[in-house]
Amino acid sequence: MALGLSLPRIDALGKVTGTTPYPGDLNLPGMLHMKILFAGRPHARIRRLDTHRAEAVPGVVAILTAKDVPVNEYGLIINDQPVLCGPGSRKQGADVVRFIGDQVALVVAESEKAAATARDLIEVDYDDLPVVTDPVVAMRPDAPLLFPELGTNVLKHYRIRKGDIATGFTQADVVIESTYRTPFQEHAYLQPEAGLAYVDEAGRVTVVVAGQWTHEDQAQIAHALDLPVDQVRVIYPAIGGAFGGREDMSVQIVLALAAWKLRRPVKIVWSREESIVGHHKRHPMVLRARWGATREGKVVAAEVEVIADAGAYAYTSTKVLGNTTLMCTGPYEIPNVKVDSYAVYTNNIPTGAFRGFGGPQGLFAAETQMNKLAEALDMDPVELRQRNLLREGSLLSVGTPLPPGVTIGQVVQAAAEAGWNLPSPPATLSKAGKRGARVKGKGFACGFKNVGFSFGAPERCWATVELYGGTEIEQVIVRHAGADVGQGAHTAIVQMTAEAAGVSVEKVRLVASDTAETGDSGSSSASRMTFMAGNAVRGAMEAALAKWRDEERPAVATYVYRAPPTTPFDPETGHSEPNFAYGYVAQVAEVEVDTETGQVRLVRVVSAHDVGRAVNPQLIQGQIEGGVVQAQGYALMENLVVRDGRILNPYLSTYLIPTVLDVPERVESVILECADPRGPWGVRGMAEMPFLPLAPAVIAAVHDATGVWFDAIPLTPERVLAGLKSQRSANG
Ligand code: MOS
Repeated sequence: MALGLSLPRIDALGKVTGTTPYPGDLNLPGMLHMKILFAGRPHARIRRLDTHRAEAVPGVVAILTAKDVPVNEYGLIINDQPVLCGPGSRKQGADVVRFIGDQVALVVAESEKAAATARDLIEVDYDDLPVVTDPVVAMRPDAPLLFPELGTNVLKHYRIRKGDIATGFTQADVVIESTYRTPFQEHAYLQPEAGLAYVDEAGRVTVVVAGQWTHEDQAQIAHALDLPVDQVRVIYPAIGGAFGGREDMSVQIVLALAAWKLRRPVKIVWSREESIVGHHKRHPMVLRARWGATREGKVVAAEVEVIADAGAYAYTSTKVLGNTTLMCTGPYEIPNVKVDSYAVYTNNIPTGAFRGFGGPQGLFAAETQMNKLAEALDMDPVELRQRNLLREGSLLSVGTPLPPGVTIGQVVQAAAEAGWNLPSPPATLSKAGKRGARVKGKGFACGFKNVGFSFGAPERCWATVELYGGTEIEQVIVRHAGADVGQGAHTAIVQMTAEAAGVSVEKVRLVASDTAETGDSGSSSASRMTFMAGNAVRGAMEAALAKWRDEERPAVATYVYRAPPTTPFDPETGHSEPNFAYGYVAQVAEVEVDTETGQVRLVRVVSAHDVGRAVNPQLIQGQIEGGVVQAQGYALMENLVVRDGRILNPYLSTYLIPTVLDVPERVESVILECADPRGPWGVRGMAEMPFLPLAPAVIAAVHDATGVWFDAIPLTPERVLAGLKSQRSANG
């Protein structure tokens, strides 16, 4: 009764009227302000740190450095990053800064101004160390090491060996070999890193902040402060966008440290520049792909080498690389596959989670290889895909079948029907370009991605429901930790709860995102929250309704949903059962290229998705349009300029993201509902999927328009013009 309705979001009114507080809006009496001294250099040992002059600034309450951090290390997967870099802590190597955004000192003062003044008076003597910023160079045995104790900069190497690659290539009639390069990408969420920490009435150090997983933040804060987990509380108010950029810690630990030591509320709000320098980016990757197909259009061999720039610390690089490793051969059943992938430490800004989580890079190579193969075979690109797509029972590159409910075939078909097979409707031509010759083109690409954590990571999701009333259920309280990062998760949870209880949404109240109120529901990431929360709520509701029928009032039940287990890659062959669920996507992109200016305009996008069951169709449409535009920025505009580990454009005035003037004239959302047998009411995750194939679809469209294949993004006007020019000189 609540599922499938495009109900208004439960947070809509407060957000559109500006009354909803975000972390940066919060204040408490007696509150102090924090500023952070960032390293500002890519690789150096801190010899001496002198805070005397800074401490003398009126209003300064404390300056905290490495020696003040009880356990000076943190990390989402590996604890390889010091909370504060500098001498005096027990953590080996904590006196070394490894990228410009490493944090060196915290200044806490009565005013922001005093904190900033004092921060600039801290004296640091650095001994600069050799800098390595190219992951290919960083792999060489003579490269400077970020962690000398490891003896290598290679953080992770995965191997996939399926069939026999040499035999595969002997069967191929055409072979395509290319080297692809994908760039950094900045999350550019609306609300920069901000938060407020205090000691609550129960004596817990409490951090009110924007993140993606309250309980993981809590665990990492507790580790660094050497406190029992229940002495730490994490609350998320409104979040303001995350996209993976809030999976790793930013201000959480340092705020908690200051509030715990000083016993006063402490607030911080990062500037946009601090945000861009201070949190990780999407991994740049170099992907070398060699694929072979028969004349009939059967892909028989795929060999891919992936080198990913992990930056200075691990973050989620090992898991992102795992996804790229799986997705760099596309949603195809290929009998002979060889993949070697590497994540490599460098002195660049760390890289990690960003919508798609390694999928977009892998699919950029895979889908462009498919489009080039189609050209070489003189075959329609959709037809070529249909001859190779994964289907029920197909073996992945890792030697195991996908979970049941493989619908990439239906999704490709739906996208083709909506945007490929028909002639395109005439595009409204912009007024510009009287001089330039404008050419139009159309491209196709598709993809798949896991829903939920992969490769053996434990997956669970907690929910409690409470049913109140007499003969009828009058109110339902649902408790769930899940973060609403702006995608509408809380609305979806309320709708699913109402559906499970058989009541209208007005009767449901959600208590969310506070570790003091809920168990661990896991991260709002990996397109998992609707799938996991739905299963958790359903389990809890079933138990609560049983108690309700037994006349218990209120009827209260908790359920922890555990997803089917997955397994890690075998180190030699990659054999694994990597995921328990997938989402599928296919897109058509139409572009107009101005051959005089090099400007590429994305005119129209068709984005087809199997969402299993649409909990709230309008929210899904919002995710599709948002994901498409974010990927448009990745494909065409967003160009983080990094030299010697320094970001030269850490501002939204120079790092350009799409605005309302850039977005496509039309994004057509095609929503299929083929139930996932494991999803609640058939639901599949979908949040990352609209991002996945857009860049290769745009590349194919630009090729269709100009005849030039571009193997690197973003397609800035400069890059497009250079490509067109080299084609003209090649043609004499
Ligand atoms: Mo995500 S990129 O799994 O937040």
